[in-house]
Amino acid sequence: MSTLSGKHIVLGLSGGIAAFKSAELCRALVKAGVTVQVVMTEAAEQFMTAVTLQALSGRTVYTSQWDPREANNMAHINLSREADAIVVAPSSADFMSKLLHGGADELLSLMCLARPLDKVPLILAPAMNREMWANPATQRNMAQLKADGIHVLDVGQGDQACGETGDGRMLEADEILEELEGFFTPKVMAGKQVLVTAGPTYEAIDPVRGITNLSSGKMGFAIARAARLAGADVTLIAGPVSLATPRGVKRVDVRSARQMLEAVQPFVDEAQVFISTAAVADWRPASTADQKIKKDGSGETPQMSFVENSDILASVAHSPRAASGELFCVGFAAESHDLLTHASAKRIRKGVPLLVGNIGPSTFGQDDNALLLVDETGAYEMPHASKQKLAVDLIADIATRLNRQDDSGHGVGRSTFSERN
Ligand code: CTP
Repeated sequence: MSTLSGKHIVLGLSGGIAAFKSAELCRALVKAGVTVQVVMTEAAEQFMTAVTLQALSGRTVYTSQWDPREANNMAHINLSREADAIVVAPSSADFMSKLLHGGADELLSLMCLARPLDKVPLILAPAMNREMWANPATQRNMAQLKADGIHVLDVGQGDQACGETGDGRMLEADEILEELEGFFTPKVMAGKQVLVTAGPTYEAIDPVRGITNLSSGKMGFAIARAARLAGADVTLIAGPVSLATPRGVKRVDVRSARQMLEAVQPFVDEAQVFISTAAVADWRPASTADQKIKKDGSGETPQMSFVENSDILASVAHSPRAASGELFCVGFAAESHDLLTHASAKRIRKGVPLLVGNIGPSTFGQDDNALLLVDETGAYEMPHASKQKLAVDLIADIATRLNRQDDSGHGVGRSTFSERN
């Protein structure tokens, strides 16, 4: 479930061609369980009709401060008092300038000015031509709006409706949604550097063949996202997968187990949390052929020998920082059977305080999973749910453990999840 679920958001549109993205944003918010009240400026109505947004939000749209539907004729007060946030997308250069000066000559700016500052955050998604965006006046306004406590989102970069290319595009609807998700997520990982490995590794036999496994990387990517939403500085080291990088996460792509180990090493001295979800290949071919191995027509199969890959997790878990508790290591175990037994043994073998078990064949490639958390005090279940939800819960659980560790100065606290049996 999204952290946005149950929230009430006033979605304001000022005038800009990016208003077409606001229709998508409205739809995505509603899908995430948000009630959306749309307020449009007169300029916004040049780009998008109120009818479209009424249909998508399921509520009549407000466009005027003189709206007779409000018994007290105070739409600017009534609408803002109910909101968990006001989001203005698109937020034009002119609208931002007006906000800066406390202008209030139409409903949207009037409502922003009249909002209770301590209760209703104002979030702007700017949208404009690149020259307008780069203009010192706009940049000055932005800096002042931020100083006034208004949350100004980044802009996108690329082709613009005017035919020019550069900074100033409004973020896409899914990007704004992700920003809002982050805005409402408690920052339980603020100040932490989190390293996540994800996906399979690929061990080359020759230039066209290799050994890999069915890991999709979805769980690891979901964990990286959840850690980022919770305020962490996240680096994701990904094996070969075709997944989009979660917003705000730094990604390093690798192919083989050896590359993954190399990519992990610099973070062992910096990170506070290492979550090893990657399905690292246990073995690699002892040698890799430079050219494609060809059939020679004799019917004989090639002879191959293997060497064991280094255990990345175990090596990190035995580093001095992990041993002293400065680096909290979390292992994963993809098993096909006897999950509790294997996961418990693996936790001790790897030397990690927390090991998360799951049944590999039933979860590889899927969007959902069930987890078994094993620590020194026992095993706790996170029942079947989407990987996104499990990731959020797992990050919250790890944050609780880190806090307990900080409070006690050592050791790892018990999970908040109920005992399995
Ligand atoms: N792991 C690792 N490096 C390896 C092998 C595994 O970092 N060379 C990590 C995985 O990311 C995971 C944990 O170790 O966090 C367990 O991985 P798994 O493949 O389940 O276990 P193995 O150690 O390979 O043991 P087995 O194959 O016997 O189940």
